Amino acid sequence: LFLFRAVSGSMSLAPSLVTEAACAKVNLTLHVTGCRPDGYHDLESLVVFAALHDTLIAETSETLTLTLEGPTAGALAGESPADNIVLRAARMLARAGGVPPVARLRLIKRLPVAAGIGGGSADGAAALRALLRLWQISLPADTLNALARDLGADVPVCLEGRAVTMTGVGEVLTPAPTLPPAALVLVNPRKPVATPAVFKARTGPFSPAAPLTEAPATAQDLADALARRTNDLAAPARALEPAIDTVLAALEASAGVLLARMSGSGATCFGLYASLEEAEAAALALGAAHPEWWVAASPLVDDTRAVTPVL
Ligand code: C5P
Repeated sequence: LFLFRAVSGSMSLAPSLVTEAACAKVNLTLHVTGCRPDGYHDLESLVVFAALHDTLIAETSETLTLTLEGPTAGALAGESPADNIVLRAARMLARAGGVPPVARLRLIKRLPVAAGIGGGSADGAAALRALLRLWQISLPADTLNALARDLGADVPVCLEGRAVTMTGVGEVLTPAPTLPPAALVLVNPRKPVATPAVFKARTGPFSPAAPLTEAPATAQDLADALARRTNDLAAPARALEPAIDTVLAALEASAGVLLARMSGSGATCFGLYASLEEAEAAALALGAAHPEWWVAASPLVDDTRAVTPVL
């Protein structure tokens, strides 16, 4: 009996350290379908992920601290540490869960910042996931979704971590049809683009929603379906940041590319390829031709729970 108690007791112990991958999100399509009185826009977007990620590590502590490390951490140097989305997520979750906001958090940043691939949103979502585990709290899905939405419009989709059609301002998530195996090359010209400026620069009529309802059988079928849809933020983003044109042209000229498009509000663009081998070869060539760019290849990820966080 004692042995049983000891074993079951240790199994229910809260972890003292948890690690979460904060994967890049990629908007395969992005239709701006309307504008709300508060200035936010209604969207319809097919969102998938890349295995490329920031890593969030949370450990038990008696205070709340955050350290930033990794190759792109310097881009956050101008931000007040208390405003970092990871700390905001921690404080909001502690309040909602009725627990003290204490943890030692480390964020290893690798994704480019202000890049249209939801790096900050993924970090916020990873903090929520990590602290739910560290603090052993559970909240209703609606409560978590609303909390994520308060952190930022892209945080709910990053918290979901699965291929979805995203509507509302980003908080209404519907499972996407099954997607075929495919790979992505992400290219960022290392020029930050401010999302509010891109939305503000958007002009013309709103797009109708055109959700993908049928499962494409092949990567080529997926590319064909995407080609009938758009990223409505590409035109205003390109007007604000001409480097996006150069990136798109280079991706379009790369061997094996099925489709090239901007993600989110830019400036990161993606190329879609049928295989990871082709994507890796394209990334190698693009990186060699443009050493000033951030270039990375990844499988197209439809469930980020399959991604093992690297330290
Ligand atoms: O919610 P978040 O702070 O990430 O949004 C950044 C900015 O992007 C908003 O202030 C708004 O200008 C714009 N935005 C929008 N409609 C959305 C999402 C973001 O207009 N659905």
